[in-house]
Parts: sequence; C-alpha cells; structure tokens
Amino acid sequence: MSDASYPATRLRRTRVSGWSRAMHRETVMTPADLIWPLFVTGGSGIEEPIASLPGVSRWSVDGIAKRAKEAVELGIPCIALFPNTQPERRSDDGAEALNPDNLMCQAIRAVRDACGGDVGILTDVALDPYTSHGQDGLLDTSGYVVNDDTVAVLVDQAVNQANAGADIIAPSDMMDGRVRAIRMALEMSNHPNVQIMAYSAKYASAFYGPFRDAVGSGGLLKGDKKSYQMDPANGDEAMREIALDIAEGADSVMVKPGLAYLDIIWRAKQRFGVPVFAYQVSGEYALIEAGAASGIADREALLMEKLLAFKRAGCSGVLTYHAPVAARLLNG
Ligand code: PBG
Repeated sequence: MSDASYPATRLRRTRVSGWSRAMHRETVMTPADLIWPLFVTGGSGIEEPIASLPGVSRWSVDGIAKRAKEAVELGIPCIALFPNTQPERRSDDGAEALNPDNLMCQAIRAVRDACGGDVGILTDVALDPYTSHGQDGLLDTSGYVVNDDTVAVLVDQAVNQANAGADIIAPSDMMDGRVRAIRMALEMSNHPNVQIMAYSAKYASAFYGPFRDAVGSGGLLKGDKKSYQMDPANGDEAMREIALDIAEGADSVMVKPGLAYLDIIWRAKQRFGVPVFAYQVSGEYALIEAGAASGIADREALLMEKLLAFKRAGCSGVLTYHAPVAARLLNG
C-alpha cells in the first residue's frame, strides 16, 4: 500500500446507505432553483407544439397565464417570456419591440392578472424576435450590427417591458454598455426595483437552433452573431464581460449556454460572489430529449443530473425548458 492512510480513510464508508448519502449530500436542488422559459404566440386558446423542442409549445396569452399559475403551484419562482412575433409585425428596425401592446406586454399583463406578485416575470431584451433579419440589433449598410444606436432602442424596449409589469429585465443582445443605459432609464422612469439579469457571458453557440425556430427568427437569420456574441474559446473575456455588467448595475449575471460552460460559471462565482444563473438552452434540452428517446439514458435521471451540475458549479438557479418536469420530480 503506497497510501499510508489506507484503510483508515475509506470514502466508500459514508456511501453505504441511503440515509448516510442523504446526510452527506453537498448540493440540494429545489423548485426555487428553476426559471421556466415560455414562448408566446398570438390568438387565444392556442397551443403550437415546437417540433425541434419536443414537449415544448408556444401558447397564446391566455395559455401563458395558465402556465404561470402552474409555475406558482409547482414552486417555480420565475418565468421567462419570449414572443413569436407575427411576421407582418417584424421590420428592419424591430419597432414592434416598443409597442406597449405587443405580445410580450400582453403576456406580462395577463400573468400579472392571473398570479399577482406570486411569480417573477423575466423578459428578454434584444431585437431578434422583432426584426425581419433575425439579428439582435440594428444593421448598417454592410449588415454589421451597430452598437450605440441599438442600445438606444434596447433601452426603450426595456422600459416598455417594465411599464407593462416585468420584474427582471434580461438583456440578451451582448451590445457594449447596455446594462448601464438600461439601469439609468429604469431609474428615470420610476422602476427602481426592476432588476437586471444580464446575459453577461453569452456565447455564439450552435446550441440555439431550436429557440430560433420557436421565436420564428431562424429562417430569417442570415450569417451568424459572432460580431457580438462571445467566442466559445474565451474564458478570461467572460470575466471582463461579467465585471463590466456588475459595474454597470446588473443585479445578477447569466452564463449561456449552460453545461459546456460550467468552468465559466465556476470562475464567475468564485471571482465575483454575485448571483450567477445558467441558461440550459434549447439545443441542450433537445439533445437530452433525443438521447432519452433513443434509449441512451433514463430521461429523468439524465435531466436531474445535469441540472444538479449547475448548482454544484455555483449557480443560484437555472433557466430550463425542463423546469415543470424537474419541479414535479423534486416535489415527489
Ligand atoms: C436572443 C436569444 C437567444 C436565446 C435567448 N435569447 C438566441 C440567440 O441569441 O440567437 C437562446 C435560448 C435558447 O437557445 O434556448 N437574443
């Protein structure tokens, strides 16, 4: 025996029985760790299943209100809303984002009516669900997404959502300086307690495909988003993004996608000690479902193990399309 501590130290000793494993468990997940992303569509009484996201549908505003009630019943504290804007309302400048009666604002009000203050409403700030080109901002003649003019529109979009009743503004656009600009506008428009969860480290990822189907921007998008979303090769740069967003007034930060970026989550938590959230994105969800459907692994075990990994890495919570399934499992 080369290790002198053997057999005094037997790490298997505490793993022998269930009670002991429960007692030594370091990470605990509860429904309060989940944020449920929901896709909004027009009309009423409508549910449209999304082919690339099996088990996920777009709901008309009345259905969104019902899902929000379900979240409350399941103990899920917060929902995240994404609109599938009607094609005729999409334009080069994404002006529909500023319409106080757009799908997003209708959904916010319907959830507030149905649930009062029992559920948090997180809204995405970026122009891609509203533009005819599927990019997150305004384009110049060369097709480049311009920064400062885009930020000016995002500010108005954020205030529009806050006026409708959003609790957390989540800028997912990756423009420079948008967190400060949005924070200032929220202060000036009498929304001092509306939070900002910044998509701080958002990567130009291959995992977003099904989401783009869900909001209807996928078919419109030409090219990629690499001039604003981060290079998956970079970790130090993510720390700079996060430091800036905190300095600009973010209440919490997000890392996106999730599982392939656990190192970024870990570094962010260790370094800044702020609330860090992960977005387990559409492609991650779809791959879990595809894996389970093909019999590679047990679906429930697979999804719970992956969600637990986010908490172990330091997350305060996870945005996941599995939120209702996971909450049901956690509630037993
Ligand atoms: C848009 C946005 C995207 C996602 C959230 N907000 C897609 C993108 O940047 O193209 C992805 C979410 C997912 O894949 O589940 N700004």
